[in-house]
Amino acid sequence: MKQLVLLVSIWIGFNQLFAQIPTTIPIETSQNALVLHIDKDNRVGVAYFGKKLRQNSEYEILAKSLKYNDNNAGIYNSIYTPSGSWNLVEPALEILHADGNTSSDLKLVSYSTQKIDENVSQTNILLRDPVYATEVTLSFKVYFKENVIEQWSSIKNQEKSGILLKKYASANLYFVAKDFYLHHYHGSWAKEMKPEDTKLTAGIKTLDSKLGTRANLYQPPTFMLSFDRQATEDEGKVLLGTLAWSGNFKIDFEKDSYDNLRLLAGINPHASEYSLTPNEEFRTPSFIYTYSENGQGEASRNMHDWARKYRILDGEGNRLTLLNNWEATYFDFDENKLTSLFKGAKDLGVDMFLLDDGWFANKYPRNGDTAGLGDWQENKKKLPNGIGYLVKEATKAGVKFGIWVEPEMVNPKSELYEKHLDWVIREPNRPEVYFRNQLPLDLANPEVQDFVFGVLDDLFTKNPELAFIKWDCNAVTYNAHSMYLERIKKPQTHLYVDYVKGLYSVLKRIRAKYPKIPMMLCSGGGGRVDYEALKYFTEFWVSDNTDPMERIFMQWEYSYYYPAIAQCNHITDWSKVGIKFRTDVAMMGKMGYDIVVNKLDEKELLFSQNALKNYANLKQTIWHGDMYRLVNPFENQMASVQFVSNKKDQAVMFNYLVDNRYDLNSLLSNTKLKGLDASKKYKIKEINVYPGTKSSINEETIYSGEYLMTIGINPNLSHRRTSVVLEINEVK
Ligand code: GLA
Repeated sequence: MKQLVLLVSIWIGFNQLFAQIPTTIPIETSQNALVLHIDKDNRVGVAYFGKKLRQNSEYEILAKSLKYNDNNAGIYNSIYTPSGSWNLVEPALEILHADGNTSSDLKLVSYSTQKIDENVSQTNILLRDPVYATEVTLSFKVYFKENVIEQWSSIKNQEKSGILLKKYASANLYFVAKDFYLHHYHGSWAKEMKPEDTKLTAGIKTLDSKLGTRANLYQPPTFMLSFDRQATEDEGKVLLGTLAWSGNFKIDFEKDSYDNLRLLAGINPHASEYSLTPNEEFRTPSFIYTYSENGQGEASRNMHDWARKYRILDGEGNRLTLLNNWEATYFDFDENKLTSLFKGAKDLGVDMFLLDDGWFANKYPRNGDTAGLGDWQENKKKLPNGIGYLVKEATKAGVKFGIWVEPEMVNPKSELYEKHLDWVIREPNRPEVYFRNQLPLDLANPEVQDFVFGVLDDLFTKNPELAFIKWDCNAVTYNAHSMYLERIKKPQTHLYVDYVKGLYSVLKRIRAKYPKIPMMLCSGGGGRVDYEALKYFTEFWVSDNTDPMERIFMQWEYSYYYPAIAQCNHITDWSKVGIKFRTDVAMMGKMGYDIVVNKLDEKELLFSQNALKNYANLKQTIWHGDMYRLVNPFENQMASVQFVSNKKDQAVMFNYLVDNRYDLNSLLSNTKLKGLDASKKYKIKEINVYPGTKSSINEETIYSGEYLMTIGINPNLSHRRTSVVLEINEVK
C-alpha cells in the first residue's frame, strides 16, 4: 500500500515536471463515475460527475477539454476549496493558522485506492498546503453495486502549534448541467418532511440546522438534486444525498459564474470553530450520496440496498411488532394498568409491549413532562415491584418487554439537576430557556457520557430480558454553554461538535456490550434521524403525528432515504378514521400499535389480528424487498406503493385514497405495477378485508408480470374502499 502511494507520488511529480499533462482519478461505481483531475499546478478538481464511460482512458480526453480558464474559474471545481488565497467562492476549508494567517491552498501529494472487499473500495487523496504543513485527506468509500459513495475529509494539524478550523466541510462536489432542481424539506413537530421543489438560481441556497440536539426538527440533511430538468420517479438524472451527522449541518448549493453547481456539505460552522493541537486530526462526518439516470425511484432503491447491507444496525435482520402505551395512557398508569395491557398485546398478536415515558423518578415523580427527567429509578408508587416484575409479567403473558428512555435530558425539577448543575447545558449568566420543560445534558463531558451509558447499562444489567429500547430526545439546545469545556479550558465553540461525538461514543459503548438489542431512535418524532445514528439504531420514529392521511405523505418522503424496515409506523387513536385505513397505512413500514386493545370492538379486533397475520406473511418483502412508488399522492387523488421480494415471487401493493371529491371513481384508472418478472405468472388477492365486507378484486385471474406492468390493475379505491392492500403471488 505504502509502495503504491510512493509510486503514485513519484508519477505525479514526473508528470508535472516533463509532460504537464492533466491526469485523472476516476472514482467509479457500477453505473456512475466521479472523475477528478489534477491540473498543471497539482490542484485537484472535479472533471466529471455522471454516468460512467466504458473506457475509462477517455476521461483523460474529457479532462483535457475542460475550459475553465479565466482567473478564478480554475478553483470553482476544486474538490476541496481552500479559502483566503485565490478562491473567491464558498470554501470547504477555512483555517486560522498557528501564526495567525488565514490563507490556505491545497495541492495533491498522493492518492491511492484500496480494495476492501469485492464490492467496497476506498480512494484516499492526500492534499497539503504548499506553505503550511496542514494536511487534508479526502476519502471516497465506494459501494460499487449499490452505486453509493460515502465521502469525508480528515484534517491534520502538522503545524508547530494549535490551529483553528473555521470551516471544515465533508464534501465539496461540482456538477455541470443546464439547470438544477432541488427537492428538500422543512417541518416541525408533527409536521416532519414537508417537501419543497426549487429551481436553483444564482447565489447560494443553504439547507442547515443550528438546533444542536434534535437537529432535524425544522430541516433534515436529506435532499434530491435533479440535473437538466426535474427528475420523476422513473426518469431523469438525480443525486440523492444526506449527511450522516446527528448535529448541526450545513449544505450549500452555489451556482457559479459558469452556471455550474458547487455543493458543500458538512458540519455547520456556525458557532463551531474547532481548535486542533499539533498532530491532532479531525475527521468530518460522511456525506453519503447515490446517483441515477433513471429517476428518483432507482436512486432510493440504491440507498435502501446500501443502508440495509452496510449501515442500519441489523438492517438485514428482523424486527419486533409491538404495542406501545404512550397514547393509551400517557403518564397516567400504574403496575396493574400496565399488566392488564400485556394481555391486549398478546390478544392482538404483537411480539412486544413497549412501556413509554412516566415510569421513573421519586422525589419529583414523572407524572407529566415538567419533572423527573434525569432520575432513572422506577417510581415506587406506580411500580412498587420495579421493572423486573413487569418484564416477568409480560413474559408470562407471552410478550417481550421494552422500555422508553430519554437519557440525554434533564428537567430542572429533578434530583439530577440539583446534584449536577455542572452537567447541564446552560448559560450560567442568563436565565434558562426550556424546550418541553427540559435541558440537554452536556455530552461533551466524559462523566455525563458515563452517566448516560449507565442509564442503559443499569436497565440491562438488572433486567437481562429487556428486549427493546426507545431512545428519545425531545429538546433542542438553547444557551449552548458547557461548564466542562470551561473547566478544561477548551473553546465553547467545541460544544456542538463534542456533544455529538460524546453521543456516538456512548452509543459505541452500548453496542460493544449489547450488540443486538433493537433500539428505536426517537426525537419527539423524526427530529434526529440520520445515517450515523442508524449505525446504532435498528429503526426510527417517523413522527408523533400518526394521522394516517398525514402519514401517507410523510412516509412517502421519508421512503426516498430510509428503507421500510427502519420506519416505525404505529396505529394509534390520534385520528378517528377507521382502523382499517390506519392499519393499511402503518403496514408499509415497521408496523406497531399504540391503542387500548380492549376498547376495540369485535370486528376491529378480528381485523387487527388478521392484519398482523398478513403482515407476518409479507414483512420480509416489505422489509427486504425493493420498493416502488407507483402513484404520487402529491399529484394524484391516490397514493400507491409496492414492495417486491428479491425473487420476484411475492409483492404487495398499498393503495390509499387521498382526495375524497365527488365522482372519483371515474377518475381512478389502472395502476401499473413495477419490478415484477414479465415472464412470471401472478395471482392477486386483496388482504386486510374488513370483516363483513367483500373484496371486489377477482382472486382467480392469472396475470403475466408483463400485463401487470404494461396494463396494470385497478385497486378499485372508492369512498367506501379508501384503502386497498393487494398481495401478489407467483403462480408456479
Ligand atoms: C416524544 C415521543 C413520543 C413519546 C413522548 C413521551 O414526544 O415522540 O412518542 O415517547 O415523547 O414523553
